[in-house]
Amino acid sequence: MSAAVKKLWPELDWIGDPDLCQRVTATWTRAFELSSLNPDDLERIPFTLLIPGCTVTFMQHKRCVVHVARRAAEAMREAFGTALPIDLDTVIAGAILADVGKLLEYEQAEGVTRQSKRGEALRHPFTGVAVAMMCGVPDAVCHIIAAHAAEGDLVRRSTEAYIVHHADFMTYLPFKNLEKK
Ligand SMILES: [Fe+2]
Repeated sequence: MSAAVKKLWPELDWIGDPDLCQRVTATWTRAFELSSLNPDDLERIPFTLLIPGCTVTFMQHKRCVVHVARRAAEAMREAFGTALPIDLDTVIAGAILADVGKLLEYEQAEGVTRQSKRGEALRHPFTGVAVAMMCGVPDAVCHIIAAHAAEGDLVRRSTEAYIVHHADFMTYLPFKNLEKK
């Protein structure tokens, strides 16, 4: 399965720290083991269940978030230098892992993707952190998983978590406007 994860996420190569890269890969691998979804499903299912008829796939959206987060972090580092420390590995690892818990939040039933019973009780920020901690992912990265969505509005986000949060929402909320037209 880890070969399939590496194929799904070429962006893993952007993580400079080999130990962190291995832990992020292990987290995705473990999540697939616990999920009814497989890597091919992620190239097909919609990235959100909150927008009816959404045609953007899970992987199209997740990949975009990682790319936007990386470029935003690089632009901020260029602009602010040492005035605002940003750990690029943490941003990239956090962006790759932000939605890994959706493998446990979603399930496939009769050809339809829906929220699982577990997902009703524990949204993906919670299950994502649980799986990542099992795989020894550092707290700074788990914080991004925990705080990337609305749950994170209740805590003080790190700089890296702000970047991933905004990368996620700026590539999600405009689709809700399309739905209203
Ligand atoms: Fe999310």
